[in-house]
Amino acid sequence: MAYILAIESSCDETSASVCHDGEILSNIIATQKVHEQFGGVVPELASRAHMQNIVPVVDAAMKKAGIDIPSLDAIAFTQAPGLIGALLVGAEFAKSMALALGKPLISVHHMQAHVLANLINDPKPEFPFLCLTVSGGHTQIVECLSPYEMKVIGQTIDDAAGEAFDKTAKILGLPYPGGPLIDKYAKGGNPLAYKFPEPKISGLDFSFSGLKTSILYFLQNAGESMVYKETFTADEATRKKFVAENLENICASVQQRIVSILLNKLKKAVTETGITNVCIAGGVSANSGLRNGLTQMGEKHGWKTFIPPFEYCTDNAGMIAISAYYKFLRNDFEAMTVIPSARAEW
Ligand code: KG4
Ligand code: ZN
Repeated sequence: MAYILAIESSCDETSASVCHDGEILSNIIATQKVHEQFGGVVPELASRAHMQNIVPVVDAAMKKAGIDIPSLDAIAFTQAPGLIGALLVGAEFAKSMALALGKPLISVHHMQAHVLANLINDPKPEFPFLCLTVSGGHTQIVECLSPYEMKVIGQTIDDAAGEAFDKTAKILGLPYPGGPLIDKYAKGGNPLAYKFPEPKISGLDFSFSGLKTSILYFLQNAGESMVYKETFTADEATRKKFVAENLENICASVQQRIVSILLNKLKKAVTETGITNVCIAGGVSANSGLRNGLTQMGEKHGWKTFIPPFEYCTDNAGMIAISAYYKFLRNDFEAMTVIPSARAEW
């Protein structure tokens, strides 16, 4: 019978969760709005916002779980990867609490936690399973043999899928983060209106930078061409008019291409590994096109597919709590000298 408090602060979400023997009792997420005006996350502002948010967020998570601080059996935190200043706030907060309470400290790998978010709710995937982890900073296909054994079998060689969404949104003049807005506009558009190219990358790796460039040229040429031209065929007013009049079709077409790139590689991974329990994770797994596409592909090929509830897709402490629970079962605790890290090995 263990209560674990988990803290996530790797990017622009301050989050705290309490779990009891693998059951999530609370998952409080404070999304930092300060970055919207800058079109991307500003690391220094993220650290400051985490410092302001962390006490009220932890307090709310404890209250929602209905337990008091002395009842906690361990404190967990995201150790890597992420923005170093942002990670430091969560790490030092967790260490201070563990030290003051005399309770063990558990460190969690943010990307592994995205994968394990699939173990929060029923029905759960059986091991081994494949997980397509798609976020603002990562695009990976992970082979998960157990909560303790994971292997990256494919990944992006340039931009992440979330970056492809966010950069497209920026080119379209939409605010950050653009992924959810592209998803929203795509719902009213025709995904076959424009045909953006699919990159030719061998194996299970991904590439999104070429797509971004073709979208850029497409818009600069007001939809007439996807190739670079010395002088653009359209002036700024024409380009803006083109985007305004065709926003839904552009969003639907871009989204369908990003989703098809992701799902085609996932299909290849299933064929190569023979693993048919298939999950998605990470912020981009909130995308309705990807969710529907995975479900349809699963039905067609006889896979069992799993998609975490929305609150466990984007950055959240619930996924840190479930990961910490499995570490707790093995007494896998961390020394107080641990420090966070911007990068992480698998
Ligand atoms: O996992 P996450 O919350 O943070 C990182 O660790 O990066 O992922 C954030 C990414 C952003 O790029 C955001 O635009 C994207 O997830 N995202 C979406 C949707 N919701 C979030 N992309 C497409 N469609 C969505 N509905
Ligand atoms: Zn994440």
